[in-house]
Amino acid sequence: MLSLNINGRDTEIRSDPATPLLWVLRCELKLTGTKFGCGIGVCGACTLHIDGAAQTCCTKPVAQLHGVKITTIEGLEGAEARALKAAWTRIDVVQCGYCQSAQLMAASALLKHNHKPGPADIDQAMTPVVCRCGTYPRIRDAIYEASGQTRR
Ligand code: FES
Ligand code: FES
Repeated sequence: MLSLNINGRDTEIRSDPATPLLWVLRCELKLTGTKFGCGIGVCGACTLHIDGAAQTCCTKPVAQLHGVKITTIEGLEGAEARALKAAWTRIDVVQCGYCQSAQLMAASALLKHNHKPGPADIDQAMTPVVCRCGTYPRIRDAIYEASGQTRR
């Protein structure tokens, strides 16, 4: 049986090894914070962390993920995550909320590797995650606030 490390725990997976990680998380493990948008790797709604990097998971068969560390929104923790969640709340970033797990996963991966991101860094990190509600300006403000920078 395949075992995956998810949110710090080794977890046995019963699904077919060809199943994309997104569906194993949502259907088998009931970790529904990671969202389905397009299913073809272009909208970013299913963004999570694989070995600390923000990646989509709707096209990644679980068979390819043995031995890596997977973090979902349910397991997101640490100083950057706390700062981002606080800024997200204070600035009231969220509208419908559908994309916001992915936005936080992308933003936390960014801050983990770049404590003071500039506009181009933020654009590069956040552009892959589509927000149909257009919360981009507030996402940007929240990332500045979480990283202790003045808004630009
Ligand atoms: S659902 Fe995975 S990128 Fe759109
Ligand atoms: S908050 Fe609605 S899609 Fe982003």
